[in-house]
Formats: sequence, C-alpha cells, structure tokens
Amino acid sequence: MAQAGGWLPFDQFMALALYAPGLGYYARGDQQFGHLPPGALGAAGGSDFVTAPELSPGFGTALARQVAQALDAAGADTVWEFGAGSGALAEQLLEALGARVARYTIVELSSALQARQAQRLARFGSRVQWVQELPPELNGVLVGNEVLDAMPVQLLHFDGQQWHERGVVADLEAGSLPGSFAWADRPTALRPPLPDGHFLPGTVTEIHLQAQALIRTLADRLQRGVAFFIDYGFPEAEYYHPQRRGGTLMCHRAHRVDDNPLLDAGDKDITAHVDFSAIALVAQDAGLDVAGYTTQAHFLMNCGLLDLLQDAGPRERANAQKLLTEHEMGELFKVIALARGLQGFQPLGFVRGDRSHTL
Ligand SMILES: C[S@@+](CC[C@H](N)C(=O)[O-])C[C@H]1O[C@@H](n2cnc3c(N)ncnc32)[C@H](O)[C@@H]1O
Repeated sequence: MAQAGGWLPFDQFMALALYAPGLGYYARGDQQFGHLPPGALGAAGGSDFVTAPELSPGFGTALARQVAQALDAAGADTVWEFGAGSGALAEQLLEALGARVARYTIVELSSALQARQAQRLARFGSRVQWVQELPPELNGVLVGNEVLDAMPVQLLHFDGQQWHERGVVADLEAGSLPGSFAWADRPTALRPPLPDGHFLPGTVTEIHLQAQALIRTLADRLQRGVAFFIDYGFPEAEYYHPQRRGGTLMCHRAHRVDDNPLLDAGDKDITAHVDFSAIALVAQDAGLDVAGYTTQAHFLMNCGLLDLLQDAGPRERANAQKLLTEHEMGELFKVIALARGLQGFQPLGFVRGDRSHTL
C-alpha cells in the first residue's frame, strides 16, 4: 500500500488478500475448502465453503459426458482446467474419461494448491501437467469451476452524481487497531455497463476486468474447442438491478458469509458473482461463439446426472441433489460454453433450458 502511494484500488487489495505468496487465502496452503461443515451429512472436519466437485463426485462424472462430446466434436484429446483447487474435479474427470484424455493440463495461480493437486493426482502419472503460462495455441476442452468468481474485481460507488473507484487505505483513526484498513473513494472514468440513470445513489457494485481479460486471452489462443465455465452469477440485467445496491462482494469463512473484506484479510475467501453477459460479450467480440448458457441444474440433468445416481447410496444422492435444487446450487450457479471452430456443435448440457437469450 505504501508503494502504491497509500491507496490501493480494491482489485489489487483482493489480489493480495487471496494470492500474495505465503499470506493470501489461496496461497497459504491451509485453505479449508473441500470438506463439508462439521456434522453435515455425516462428514467430518470443517471448511470455509464447499464447491460442487467437493460436494458430489456426480458433478465431475456428469460434466465428463459433456467434455467427451466436446472432445469428439473438436477431434481432440486434451483437457485444460483453470483453478483446480484441491484437484477434486480433475480426479473425477480423469476417472470418468479414462484413456479418452491423453493430456490434462492445469493452470493454477497458487503454488500451495498446485502441490496439493500434484499429490492427489499422482496416480494419473504424466498425463497430468501444470503450466504457468498458456501456449500460443490451445485445442481441446477447457473447464473452470468457481474460478471466475475468485478473480479480483474493481469496486465502483455511485453517489448520485459521479462514479468513484473504491480503494483501500490504512485506517489511522484514533482507536483503530494497527494494521486495520478503511475504504477510500476516488473519482473514476470507469463505469458499469448500464447508463447512470439506472443506478440509485449510494450503489456500490463491481466490474470484472480481470475475468474479462482472461476470457479475451483464452479467445486469442483457442483454435478449435470449447470452454465451459461454471459459477454463481447472473445476466447483466439481474446483476446490475437497481435494487442490488450493495453489489455481490462476499467473504466466506467456516460456512459463514460476511461482507467486509477489510477484516481478517488472508484468513477468508473473497468473491464476487459473475456477470455472465459481460463474459459472453467479451468472448463474442474476440471471435468465440456462445454455444450455451443455462443453470447448473439444467446442465447436469441434460448431462444425465439423474441416471448416474441410480445406483448411488442415500448420502451420495442427497449431496448430488444439492447440486440441482433451486435453493441450493441448482439455480444460482450457471454454466456457459464458449466455442471456436466447431460448426453446428450443439453441446448436450444445454439441450433443454438454454438461457442464452437472457444474456
Ligand atoms: C474457489 S476455488 C475453486 C477450486 C475448484 N475449481 C473447485 O471447484 O473446487 C478458485 C480456484 O481458482 C484459482 N485461481 C484464481 N485465479 C486464477 C487464475 N487467474 N488462473 C488460474 N487459477 C486461478 C485459485 O487458486 C483456486 O484454485
């Protein structure tokens, strides 16, 4: 913060709180995601939050059907995963796809998580590899579960007249603890994608320039194949609805949610929902086709999750149901497919319930 002249734009603060080597939430190597809360569905151990592949292996097994169809359409045998967390999804996909995948390449920002993934996936041998940088050309299928929501966002505040970028300063108020942070706004030329008249005074919202930059880079590199991103979020009209005056920024720790990222930086996850319209627009501008957009529930059912559960025990069924039910992950989580070079490709996950028209 001192190096930046005393004021850090929020996206830089979030990047440090999540990814500063050895200190950031994802860089410390002791993240608690990947286990159910104590006592939940009989599982042992606590966690900060649970992602779909951690909750049920049915997630990866159903997604594998979509990946297999897309690999066939692209004539490819390579899968790329962005932000692989504990390696749970990679394990599920590799198991389900078997010899269909010759190479599974992981792009992971956190070296602590990369080490955890390497341990978990050791039995798949040299088929699994990690890269720090993308090659100039990508072919095959790309997947990313809950990676876009973990990318730093810029915070914007509208006072009724003007937009400000919200940043972070050291809190020097009498009585504050040393090392505390406070908000500080600066006028900015940055804007959310809707006109000013749409927003109520006092609105604080986010824009996702880093996530958009990732999509642009992928679009530049993807020659033939499909990218599937799964995350919580909405189309633009819902994201920037005038009643959503506080934005979507959230922190997760021990299955509790709070809205103050300035407290306990590095000890908790910070996320923002995804604006899927912005992702689709950036992708289209960069030459990709939006091959589908739907809810996680529709996607997984289209991929046959219910058939896959026929022989499952009661616990596995109950967990998989959480992926589908509206009040759990079924409706809030969405899946978007971005394709290039696949004429007439109809991804099976979007056959019923496609919502691309809402983007
Ligand atoms: C919320 S976790 C999700 C982990 C996993 N996909 C799952 O579903 O359990 C976010 C993951 O994305 C990684 N990540 C965040 N930004 C990234 C980026 N720009 N490139 C690659 N990985 C990134 C984090 O280190 C972490 O592994």
